Amino acid sequence: MSAIRFNGSLPLTGHDREMLLSEMHATKQKDANWREGKTWSLVYHKDQQHEAFIKQAYSNYFSENYMNPMAFPSLRRYEHEVVRMCANLLGGDSDVVGTITSGGTESILLAIKAYRDRAREKRKFLRRPNMIVPKTVHVAFDKAAHYFDVDIIRAPLDENMCVDTIAVEKLINRNTILLIGSAPNYPYGTVDDITALGRLAKKFKLPLHVDACVGGFMLPFVRELGQDVPAFDFKIPEVTSMSVDVHKYGYAAKGASVILYKNMDYLKYQFVVCSDWCGGVYASPTLHGTRSGGSVAAAWAAMNSIGHTGYVDLARETMSITEKLMLGINAIDGLEVIGNPKMTIFAYLSKDEKLNVFAVADLMEKKGWHIDRQQKPNSLHAMVTINHKMHYQKYLDDLREAVSIARQQPDLAQQGNAAMYGMVAQVPLRGLVKNNVLKMMETMYSSENNTFGSSLDSIGNNKVIDLGVKMLASYSKAKNRLNGLLNGIKG
Ligand SMILES: Cc1ncc(COP(=O)(O)O)c(C=O)c1O
Repeated sequence: MSAIRFNGSLPLTGHDREMLLSEMHATKQKDANWREGKTWSLVYHKDQQHEAFIKQAYSNYFSENYMNPMAFPSLRRYEHEVVRMCANLLGGDSDVVGTITSGGTESILLAIKAYRDRAREKRKFLRRPNMIVPKTVHVAFDKAAHYFDVDIIRAPLDENMCVDTIAVEKLINRNTILLIGSAPNYPYGTVDDITALGRLAKKFKLPLHVDACVGGFMLPFVRELGQDVPAFDFKIPEVTSMSVDVHKYGYAAKGASVILYKNMDYLKYQFVVCSDWCGGVYASPTLHGTRSGGSVAAAWAAMNSIGHTGYVDLARETMSITEKLMLGINAIDGLEVIGNPKMTIFAYLSKDEKLNVFAVADLMEKKGWHIDRQQKPNSLHAMVTINHKMHYQKYLDDLREAVSIARQQPDLAQQGNAAMYGMVAQVPLRGLVKNNVLKMMETMYSSENNTFGSSLDSIGNNKVIDLGVKMLASYSKAKNRLNGLLNGIKG
């Protein structure tokens, strides 16, 4: 029971701090339990000592505003050193330059803005710019396309779930400004053939961005362990930029990614300068205005405290957990890991039509696991971190049991989330799905939404089920209308 009754306004007088802290503690109890390894994305936790240390680094700069590096040269030093360390890690030379951003999405947004503006300046006859991305590329590129008015053209995958570079070549046209590859991609953890993309970049004189948001702090170390990691970084001369997140496998505090460019001839297009503002000349390297210095300081502290051998050790252990998980999953009758993941992210599907993976996901959630579902093909996703060391065995045991129940009770596939996710994945009219999801967001962000008392998941799920029912109804209506029309034509 909440001690505070929210009535839509500021409390007339402030509440007691202790009471507020205990209210927050109580409210938090229904959140995803990442400390016990129940989440397979969202949180990258190394250990409690490390957490306490980066919190301290963060709070040392909690109030400093990184909007103005001139005022806080210590933060500028950390940014410079973090950028240099990342450039070095990813095969860059001393010409490589970059900035710290708030996360992978911001790094990607900025790269697309920079390439768009560069192309506008250098290619006088450019009409509507486009970029060619693998089908698996992170949705941040869709966001960038949306925000910066660049068309996004999706290339299909080959049999290894990597981008089909022959298809990429066919998609390049005179308005193409950029090629993109992932190392690795989020959905399957596979690494695109960056060398082949580099050959295309050279042939068509195009820049090439590699999204290593998730792989930047893992692949270099996995390679050092002697595992097969294809070339993916600045060592390929045609790679002109890379995004790499320190707040993922770099185990920094949230709010730290790095965008790197081959040289200043690219980075300079990221900057915005307003020389006529009454408030003074304003120069901005990234999307943000005001921004805490905490995440910059914590990124520097995390990297310096873990160090190269620390990251190699983390990679060794996390890879070992991942291999055990993938072996365990492949050993469960009906389940199969997709493709050939190169590091610690993977997805698995059901190869048995009698076994519904979304029903398995529902059963896993009943056991407290927070499961990420994917579509095309329907699959379940996992991003493994060192925090799963003590929990992966339980995940496998629960998964085995969930699969056995899902087989015994095939009706589960027609109920709850399983039915809804299955349906959403299958509806051929994707515009319908998009419109319904937009409506769901409007409901979620409406001024009346006060359903936070239940767990976030159940709000999400109720709305999502509601969405499924509505969509099914609109879909069958549209289908009937189309059938009617076709019959009319035939008649
Ligand atoms: C491959 C890849 N790129 C980009 C991003 C976006 O990163 P962020 O969530 O930090 O914005 C992610 C996030 O998981 C990712 O996996």
